Amino acid sequence: MSTVVLENVTKVYPGGFVAIDRMNLRAEEGELLVLLGPSGCGKSTLLRMIAGLEEITSGSLWLDGRLANDLTPRERNVAMVFQSGALYPHRTVRGNLSFPLEIAGVEVPEIRERVEALAKALQIEETLDRRPHTLSGGQRQRVAMGRAILRQPSLFLMDEPLSNLDAGMRTELRMEISSLVRSLGITTIYVTHDQVEALSLADRIAIINRGVLQDIGTPAQVYNDPATAFTAAFLSSQQLNLLAATVRTPQNQYVLLDFGPSQIVIPWTDPRAYAVSRHTGMQIIVGIRPDVLVPVSDQAEGPTLVGRVRTLEYHGHEWLAFLEAGIPAVSVPQPPDQRRHLMAGTTGKARSLIRRMLGRENGAAAQPPSASAPAGSHRRADLIVRLSSRPAWRVGEYARVAVDVAQLMLFTMDGARIDPPRR
Ligand SMILES: Nc1ncnc2c1ncn2[C@@H]1O[C@H](COP(=O)(O)OP(=O)(O)OP(=O)(O)O)[C@@H](O)[C@H]1O
Ligand SMILES: [Mg+2]
Repeated sequence: MSTVVLENVTKVYPGGFVAIDRMNLRAEEGELLVLLGPSGCGKSTLLRMIAGLEEITSGSLWLDGRLANDLTPRERNVAMVFQSGALYPHRTVRGNLSFPLEIAGVEVPEIRERVEALAKALQIEETLDRRPHTLSGGQRQRVAMGRAILRQPSLFLMDEPLSNLDAGMRTELRMEISSLVRSLGITTIYVTHDQVEALSLADRIAIINRGVLQDIGTPAQVYNDPATAFTAAFLSSQQLNLLAATVRTPQNQYVLLDFGPSQIVIPWTDPRAYAVSRHTGMQIIVGIRPDVLVPVSDQAEGPTLVGRVRTLEYHGHEWLAFLEAGIPAVSVPQPPDQRRHLMAGTTGKARSLIRRMLGRENGAAAQPPSASAPAGSHRRADLIVRLSSRPAWRVGEYARVAVDVAQLMLFTMDGARIDPPRR
């Protein structure tokens, strides 16, 4: 059992690419912490730094209260399971499973007993005398998992261990991993880019984008109360509606979200009204999950949005409707490109070299994206509505949906929550 603490951990690869930027993170003893983020965001880099397979450029890593930056992988006593279940190809399954016990000097009869018991628990006892290349992907991952368990590590590090498997096998092994690591009580850091896997497996989820921590909390906290627009969008099972609205406070009577063709009132009784009103005259981002929009009649009271039905899509268990509502769309705000940090503290020659490297002679890459002109804001959004059955709408006609104001997610143009999340 082990705690893991990262303090301002940064990774700069040779060539200057900042893969992890001042990461602060803590995994509690026995916790299953999931690192979630898109491809290239730095998940594997982070895991490899914890394992000791990658040097930490700056910052501190503490394992069980001990500064671990300079410990060898062996001294850290971690077991890592990779995406492709890296096994020794010339050893049988039994040989692979026995290996960590042989290294530890365990007696042969005990090795046999422990390997067979675990193989039975992992449902791979039939494969014990076979070589890895004769196994299915799922079986290989079970062997890799078994070998990690037999090492009795203080810490499990798993890098997308299920991503090569088909959906059915993924669900099955996911449940097994969950109950296995919890029954062993071993602290586990698990990397995935699959939000369903993260939500269903984690005690807590850390969401990472471009090497920067976006949010951390229990699955319910980060899903229902996301700290950033990026988190809200990444965890949304359908595309999240991200709309630009101007905040107005007419005669101070209420707070108005002005979408252009339509408006929504936030009454002063709403706990977020004051925080939103501080953005009066400015644009903000309003996030609306497609399932909180409910079709209503034209006579409906309360806040609504209207749009022309562009398409109705059948998805088997649900329908998605795309409404042209004439509201400006906003792209998911990204943290500034890490490469700009290269420019900090550099002068003259170095700067022009970096600019050339980035292919921007004019140095435009050094600028963070403009918060006041979000990419895509000139575009009109399609309002996506999720429905459990086919609506009585016809393509080309106007349709009205009710909006539950309490469920609107409100962000600044750079993607930070306007009303602080409760953690
Ligand atoms: N040895 C290296 N040298 C330079 N850049 C690297 C190196 N290894 C990784 N990177 C870069 O660092 C970034 C983060 O890579 P990393 O493998 O950690 O991402 P990831 O989140 O695990 O992505 P994926 O989900 O695709 O596995 C990527 O842009 C990658 O190209
Ligand atoms: Mg990776």
